[in-house]
Amino acid sequence: MTFTNENFSQLMEEALYGEDGFYTKGGGAGRSRDYLTSPEVGDLFGRIIGNYIDDWYDNLEIDGPAIVIDAGCGPGALAASIARAKINNADRIKYALVDRSPTHLKTCEERLNKVQTGFSWSLHESLPDCEYPTLVIANELLDNLVFNIGFADETYSTFEPDEIDKSLLGFDTYANFGIFKNIDNLKGADVPIDIGHFRIPLHTGMAQWFYELSVATSNVSSLSLLFFDYMKSVQKFEDENWLRLYSDNERIVGVEEVLDALRRGITGDITTDIIKEDLHVLLDIEGFSKIKFNTQHDWLKENNIDIWFENVLEQSSGYENLQAWVKSDTDEKPIQGFSSERAILLDHTGLGAFSVVEAKREI
Ligand SMILES: C[S@@+](CC[C@H](N)C(=O)[O-])C[C@H]1O[C@@H](n2cnc3c(N)ncnc32)[C@H](O)[C@@H]1O
Repeated sequence: MTFTNENFSQLMEEALYGEDGFYTKGGGAGRSRDYLTSPEVGDLFGRIIGNYIDDWYDNLEIDGPAIVIDAGCGPGALAASIARAKINNADRIKYALVDRSPTHLKTCEERLNKVQTGFSWSLHESLPDCEYPTLVIANELLDNLVFNIGFADETYSTFEPDEIDKSLLGFDTYANFGIFKNIDNLKGADVPIDIGHFRIPLHTGMAQWFYELSVATSNVSSLSLLFFDYMKSVQKFEDENWLRLYSDNERIVGVEEVLDALRRGITGDITTDIIKEDLHVLLDIEGFSKIKFNTQHDWLKENNIDIWFENVLEQSSGYENLQAWVKSDTDEKPIQGFSSERAILLDHTGLGAFSVVEAKREI
């Protein structure tokens, strides 16, 4: 079968998560691997998230257990960093590592068995049922959820919000959503009225994932989300450079270029930018409020990266990671020359430009 707009999600599913899929075989994040993510840079990111978890737990004002879900955990770098951070509320936290790739889950297990986590942890191929207050952290998960390809004008202009009966919505219909102008959350989004004829991702997998999340957390009274991903407003998709294929250190960018490479049999990680408006719609439908968008740069600054930066340098794990960075041969990596984890995480042209989304659902 050849890749087309309509069957894209089906073939992407096979290419990433099928028997010989990129993630099934353990491809993914890491130094000298396919690409670098924030938790793989070193311990600093996990240190800041660890502190965030402590604050989140304290604000719950409970004594009992709470759940942290590391959704799309990959090989487990974030969990290992949080373990080394020795957070105050560790003994109350049930940490669930969730990834579709059994290979990654095995790596997580090996990794966490080597550290004193302080928190209890468990491994899952899909979201576990949750019964306590829950925080879902997802670093670069959304961009790996499957999608189809559609045209912006066809997708957005035909949408009539008033005709939709929300109670009838299944996950596959989410992807046909366009701009949901009567949703309060969208008032802050820069929504275009006339939109051009260009290709965009139809986030079917993201819609399905939210549906699964709502089922898994239907008994949870307090649910918080913390997502990191590259997101932008729909009109910024016009250059069609939102589709990327990472293959053997080659980075292929653009809808036409990636489709062409896939048709020629090139394999690798297929990834997209996320349409902010679609995420707004999904969050709204699932009852989330207090939705906050930020850049990773600003979010890390607000969450005291400068303080943790000093602290983490004094800890051997972070320092050793940093030394390895400085000494390693980084020829093919654009990040060559950065002198610290902090600079890499804050970089306005790289990870610092990611979006951070926080949202809360309370019943
Ligand atoms: C880009 S990697 C990010 C890994 C890790 N969070 C990090 O920051 O290094 C995305 C991960 O999401 C996983 N994934 C994709 N779809 C998933 C789903 N529906 N549920 C759980 N994990 C999923 C993939 O197997 C992959 O390991």
